[in-house]
Amino acid sequence: MLSGKKILIGVTGSIAAYKSAYLIRSLIKLEAEVKVIMTSASCDFIAPLTLATLSKNPVAIDFVKNKEGEWENHVELGLWADLFVIAPCSANSTSKLVSGNCDNLLIATYLSARCPVWIAPAMDLDMFAHFSTQENLAQLSEKGVRIIEPTSGELASGLDGKGRMEEPEVIAELVNDFFEIKSNLKNKTILITGGPTYEAIDPVRFIGNHSSGKTGVLLADACAARGAHVILVTGPTHQRVNDPRIQVIRVQSALEMKAAVEKHWPTAKVGIFSAAVADYRPAHPATEKIKKKSDDLTIELVKNPDILAWAGQTKTSVQFLIGFALETQNEIKNAQGKFERKNLDLLVLNSLRDKGAGFGYDTNKVTFIQHNNKITNFELKEKTSIMEDILDVLEQEIQ
Ligand code: PMT
Repeated sequence: MLSGKKILIGVTGSIAAYKSAYLIRSLIKLEAEVKVIMTSASCDFIAPLTLATLSKNPVAIDFVKNKEGEWENHVELGLWADLFVIAPCSANSTSKLVSGNCDNLLIATYLSARCPVWIAPAMDLDMFAHFSTQENLAQLSEKGVRIIEPTSGELASGLDGKGRMEEPEVIAELVNDFFEIKSNLKNKTILITGGPTYEAIDPVRFIGNHSSGKTGVLLADACAARGAHVILVTGPTHQRVNDPRIQVIRVQSALEMKAAVEKHWPTAKVGIFSAAVADYRPAHPATEKIKKKSDDLTIELVKNPDILAWAGQTKTSVQFLIGFALETQNEIKNAQGKFERKNLDLLVLNSLRDKGAGFGYDTNKVTFIQHNNKITNFELKEKTSIMEDILDVLEQEIQ
């Protein structure tokens, strides 16, 4: 059931707009609170009065609400929703979601929304198959918008093919499943570290490494999808989390990462430390840019604190700690040493000797090391799939 859940339905100009009435009815039956935004084009396909009556709320269409010139607050609507489902989503609106061309209330609300956004495309088969539409959908999906794939069948044009909006009852069921997370991780606080650290040499230069930050971000999204409260402490990265509920703390250096971890680890249930932390930092970073004077330059380095080892030392009996190890030789032996020394419950080993593994790739090849010398090898696979493997172990191991 969806009691207490606020669902915002966006309706755009498509013959499938009539299906939004059934979707709203299904959601109301599941006890959701529903509000509706329509584009003016969609009003040619279904009357706002129908959707207002079914949703039990006034329908928002324009930036101006009434003759008195009262403003329709799209920011408020965007913040109100726990989930924004645009169904049907026309080719035109799909393209505007990508470009951010907010010449109507629906797109303005989308730009203000902080909740997950889903779209159910509906259009003729050739429009759907067109590279422009496909590229738009790929971009939206990459940025975290969930695409509810259209189905195949007879279309309004009389043609037969893929482009029919998914059935409203199926969408309502997806919404219900989304909120009914059964995971053991639901509501647990998970602290994640990710990305590289940059250790300043001077205001211009730093010592860093090749971590893209992908692993940390994918871990964060995977944990959030299972209902966890996620805090991601990440070094510099261009990667973005998809789930707006994730608390992201951006840091530069190992010392900054340690300070953030010290603050949040005591109240976390689980720690997953995937960051590639620089082991050393310049002892005396220059306050001004170092000038090119002599032929050589020596930079004195001092050891950074081992953040994971600190978390292992302070770990309580109810906390679960996962570390990563990036090795280039004697992989298993070195990783087992780290597992013991850092007091871990799971160690995810990856080796730079494996093709497609480690920094930057969308894939990785990992080995899990657990208590009682348990070793599990995995084939090269998508990093997203590895995150699920890690969380599946976690689900079994924590209370
Ligand atoms: O970000 P991507 O491009 O997706 O790349 C992912 C990755 C290769 C960075 C990731 O899979 C990985 O292997 N991360 C750990 C890299 C690393 O620093 O390994 P390590 O063996 O040096 O460190 C062991 C563990 O101690 C790690 O969990 C690390 O986060 C932690 N550590 C290390 C040093 C330090 N000073 N503090 C730490 O917390």
